[in-house]
Amino acid sequence: MKIVFSGATVFENGILKKGGSDFVAETPLFKDFSLNSSEYFIFPAFADMHVHFREPGFSYKETIKSGSMAASHGGYTTVCTMPNLNPAPDSIENLKIQLDIIKKDASIRVLPFATITKGEKGTELSDIEALAPYVCGFSDDGVGVNDTSLMREAMQRAKAVDKIISAHCEDTTCIKDSPEAEWKQIERDIKLVNDIKCKYHVCHISTKESVALIRDAKKNGVNITCETAPHYLTLSEKNVKNDGRYRMNPPLRREEDRIALIEGICDGTIDMIATDHAPHSAEEKSKGLKSLNGIVGLETAFPILYTRLVKEGVISLEKLINLMAVSPYQRFGLEVNGYTVYNLNNQYIIDPSKFYSKGRSTPFDGEKVFGKTVATVCDGRLVYFDEEIIK
Ligand code: DOR
Repeated sequence: MKIVFSGATVFENGILKKGGSDFVAETPLFKDFSLNSSEYFIFPAFADMHVHFREPGFSYKETIKSGSMAASHGGYTTVCTMPNLNPAPDSIENLKIQLDIIKKDASIRVLPFATITKGEKGTELSDIEALAPYVCGFSDDGVGVNDTSLMREAMQRAKAVDKIISAHCEDTTCIKDSPEAEWKQIERDIKLVNDIKCKYHVCHISTKESVALIRDAKKNGVNITCETAPHYLTLSEKNVKNDGRYRMNPPLRREEDRIALIEGICDGTIDMIATDHAPHSAEEKSKGLKSLNGIVGLETAFPILYTRLVKEGVISLEKLINLMAVSPYQRFGLEVNGYTVYNLNNQYIIDPSKFYSKGRSTPFDGEKVFGKTVATVCDGRLVYFDEEIIK
């Protein structure tokens, strides 16, 4: 049984083409039928290089199953999961636990990061050589690697196995949550990467200094890329309320940082947008700004960015697709493995009770947006479909 999408505007080779070719997906849901709509847009499915799916260890917050459903609802068919898990994937034995759950429960492509250091404790390196064939890269997301000689060795060993290091940059000798805590560690790492020449990517950049440092490093030929998240591009500290929905790490910054991030997007300093989808329980997010760090993002990223940046004329739709669905695959050496069908005219209000994610905490709760996922197809299989359409 199959569904055919025809007559849509299709993103192909960097441009949007009206009345593009037909797209077919297999599905056991209904008999063969065709959805002919000039209203729809078909994009390569999005790839998110920074999500937390919480298994093994914290399945009350999210599971690989609920996380992948949230991803397909948001238009994603590829995600890379951060390794702050229990047990942390720092050895083959531990990683296998996670890989077994992925095999059983993931409806999209879920690629794990292994930790840089054992248990993300920052004192001893993980089994980098043994883990390399099974992971998309190495990260100690949630904490910075503060020991410079350990980071140097991690970079050397990651280079030898041709894997990327995706760094959460946070220098604990700086004031917690200060802009310096982020950019000082980026500055240190740029020197190391310049020397070692490994593949290096910076997680969730949030300050204007980080943008400037990375811009310069790129000019000097350093093998560096970076991501920022939808909330750093659309919110700043002036929006913060005493509410767990505004609590994440790094925190929302000064308005001048937000503007610098937009500039970084526009001039190519920032390569991609990742959500840092970080679900926690309602209880954990109920303590105002003392709540655990993290907000969900997979089910709101595209509509928020489309509404706030594309519709407002800040960036083009092609640019947004590049940031969410072209550049991440390229940098991580992956093939595009699906497509997503969007209706961009449909206006609605973000309602976390409709999320597939177990996490419900988002500062975009109640926001009026454009851009609704109609369908997402992964490896030819329909993994999300908005049944409202055929009602
Ligand atoms: O907000 C965050 N949440 N930032 C991090 O660095 C970690 C993440 C989490 O695991 O919840």
